[in-house]
Amino acid sequence: MVKEMEDIIRIKGGRKLKGEVTVSSCKNSVVAILPSVVMASEIVKLYDVPDIKDVQILIKLLEFLNVKVRADGDELTIDPTNITYVDLLDDDVMKLRASYYFMGALLGRFKHVRMYSPGGCNLGPRPIDLHLKGFEALGARIKQEGNIIEITADELLGDDIYLDFASVGATINIMLAACFARGRTTIENAAKEPEIIDLSSMLNKMGAQIRGAGTSEITIHGVNRLKGCIHDIIPDRIEAGTYIIAAAACGEDVTVNNVIPQHIEALTSKLEEMGVKLEQGSDYVRVYESPELKAVDIITQPFPGFATDLQQPLTSLMTKAKGDSKIEETIYAERFKHCHELNQMGANIEYRTGESLVHGGTPLHGTDIFATDLRCGAALVIAGLMADGETFIHNAYHIYRGYDSIVSKLRAIGAEIE
Ligand code: EPU
Repeated sequence: MVKEMEDIIRIKGGRKLKGEVTVSSCKNSVVAILPSVVMASEIVKLYDVPDIKDVQILIKLLEFLNVKVRADGDELTIDPTNITYVDLLDDDVMKLRASYYFMGALLGRFKHVRMYSPGGCNLGPRPIDLHLKGFEALGARIKQEGNIIEITADELLGDDIYLDFASVGATINIMLAACFARGRTTIENAAKEPEIIDLSSMLNKMGAQIRGAGTSEITIHGVNRLKGCIHDIIPDRIEAGTYIIAAAACGEDVTVNNVIPQHIEALTSKLEEMGVKLEQGSDYVRVYESPELKAVDIITQPFPGFATDLQQPLTSLMTKAKGDSKIEETIYAERFKHCHELNQMGANIEYRTGESLVHGGTPLHGTDIFATDLRCGAALVIAGLMADGETFIHNAYHIYRGYDSIVSKLRAIGAEIE
């Protein structure tokens, strides 16, 4: 698994991309689905599991809990029947954000969890107060000592919970714990991301009673037990968006397959506004060569608004557009570290907390640059493909956390990348 482990990606820019690329299953779904398996009393089988670093770490954490995981290609058979509770005081917990889904899942199953705070990309402050308030509303007590969080409940009782912000993580974590809470829980102002629908449909196959996922009000009737299931994970909309943007930047004619076009409407409509020529089918997006690009403004928002995760990759494309593009980042005010790196390549981007201004029409040149987080890495790969000369992206491990086989997928459509 995860073969592309070298820590530097080298790209010789200027090659035209042509052909077909297939999107893998969704990182932000699978990273919630894997921890949720601790709530099952029977075997869970997952298909099309992406080969990414975050999945490997979560598998290690499941094994730490004595959950048996067997991989057969991209199929995982997960057997939680002999699960034993242990405190998740393992350094791996701090390597990714999604380890926090063990809070909701273990609290639900064992009424107790003690673990390190999660890590994940450094995008500025990433509090989890809404998760903890949600657990408290269900009757849990929270104790925090330094980096260790302990959550305990004698019994979980359903409640009406209003989220001050439609947080993806808080929605999922509360949904997980509420599956085993007595009575009815409602989450109001819930996040509506497709990954939440995917997780809830899997939990419902396991016998959970969740209604309304994908809307701003989710209702969960607690149950006593969850059984096993077989589940196919949805395609990764952010990976799809990344390849579509790369194709818009350097493509002659690229078809991105395994896409749910409704999941990326905010992106595709912005790209069309920029002058990118696209054709959308039921499960693909075809991108034609689009030499003339116009500047556009975007505001990142929770789904179905423009995804913060695609703001960084789109910035690279904006350097090619005629005029000034403005980005307002409302989710992670400090998610602009890629701008520094792009400026090293010849871009002209002004940025400060909450916003950036890309002065377009600046050709990029290759140099040594650093991936500081996952989507920064994706932005730099696109920039490297666009640039004149050779680009060396250091700290490429950030990229392998979320992109399955990115080097071989891009090579297959004509990129010179290794
Ligand atoms: N927030 C709070 N308190 C909370 C929770 C969130 O203030 O208790 C704030 C955050 O600080 C942030 C905003 O709410 O400003 C959004 O946070 P959210 O909880 O929605 O995001 P998340 O669960 O931490 C997930 C994805 C991110 C993606 C965001 C937004 C996973 C593992 N991560 O993060 O994915 O950017 O939703 O869509 O699902 C990525 O894939 O590169 C990535 C960072």
